[in-house]
Amino acid sequence: MSNPSILILAGDGIGPEVMGEVKKIITWYGDKRGLQFDVSEDLVGGSAYDVHGTPLHDDTMAKAQEADAVLLGAVGGPKYDVLDFSVKPERGLLRLRKEMDLYSNLRPAQCFDALADFSSLKKDVVAGLDIMIVRELTSGIYFGEPRGIITEGNERVGINTQRYTESEIARVARSAFELAKRRGNKVCSMEKANVMESGILWREVVQKIHDEEYPEVELSHMYADAGAMQLCRWPKQFDVIVTDNLFGDLLSDAAAMLTGSLGMLPSASLGAPMANGRPKALYEPVHGSAPDIAGQNKANPIACILSFAMALRYSFDKGDEATRLEQAVEKVLADGVRTADLLAGEGVTPVSTTEMGDKIVEALDASL
Ligand code: NAD
Ligand code: IPM
Ligand code: MN
Repeated sequence: MSNPSILILAGDGIGPEVMGEVKKIITWYGDKRGLQFDVSEDLVGGSAYDVHGTPLHDDTMAKAQEADAVLLGAVGGPKYDVLDFSVKPERGLLRLRKEMDLYSNLRPAQCFDALADFSSLKKDVVAGLDIMIVRELTSGIYFGEPRGIITEGNERVGINTQRYTESEIARVARSAFELAKRRGNKVCSMEKANVMESGILWREVVQKIHDEEYPEVELSHMYADAGAMQLCRWPKQFDVIVTDNLFGDLLSDAAAMLTGSLGMLPSASLGAPMANGRPKALYEPVHGSAPDIAGQNKANPIACILSFAMALRYSFDKGDEATRLEQAVEKVLADGVRTADLLAGEGVTPVSTTEMGDKIVEALDASL
């Protein structure tokens, strides 16, 4: 039987830097745990535009469709701000999500004990935090039609449309309920049913899926603005949050800061099962290409490394090995190793991206 395949799309800015550390971890699993992957690499985002004039070449799209898992670093950067909207780096990522139909984006926010002091919130608010945001990823205002910039009279109008079908809501709701069953058995659904028709439908469909298929899971509903407030006030009230594409984007960046840094948050974008039973999947950190620190060997690679842990769990059925990797990260943090984004106070010398990766590999060695 051939090895499972991984397509690496490191992308732009700090993407290739943090992905370099993931490659060390993949090599470690091959050498020390006998987990062999067929790894190939390609371009996405600005780096693809530089070579092909498009942020995602059709050949790369086809490879992504075939891969057992895609690992993505980050896309974007100021160099590409001048490009036409249709070829901006972010369009490459959005095309991957849409054409692979990765409708369920899992964004866990866990606060490692060693970082509880570092959050901008009080320690007892975040210590032990473990929530999962499930963000709908292939529809909503990101993709709804009509869209564009049109001229009306003597001024221009920017248009985007929030649009959700019942089946789109139902499938992401199921994915949230399934996750909740394996965690704290609670789902909070967030929308703005008080002002948006799409929110009314969202609430109705989530409730129906709950009542008919998952009555044993505790379900609550919250307006997304109040949800944002509650995430900062007392985040530990949540287990799984399910929400739409745009609200999920905002709420997950906010949740990132509960854990200490945007450089800590991984994500898995999952679609329907393929012929081999594995879900179509793309794994990427929640953060972007961080142009302000790119090229300086300063970025925190943990979000990208934890995204690979999610690949081990959700694509390769290696939950034990995923836990091993998560515990290695936890150990390194407990030892006080910090990249610059995680520095609390003076007198702590930050490690570089590559040093952080090396320390995590050492901790993996120590786990054997
Ligand atoms: P960003 O996430 O790139 O950076 C926000 C802040 O967080 C910056 O100060 C950055 O230095 C810091 N940061 C982010 N990741 C870090 C890490 N791993 N280690 C240490 N610090 C980290 O968001 P932005 O500045 O709003 O966007 C920059 C570019 O990235 C834009 O082009 C945007 O569209 C793109 N972006 C891409 C993705 C993605 O590829 N999935 C996600 C978000 C933003
Ligand atoms: C994210 C990013 C993307 C999004 C951009 C880069 C397309 O912010 O993955 O959170 O808005 O979904
Ligand atoms: Mn985002």
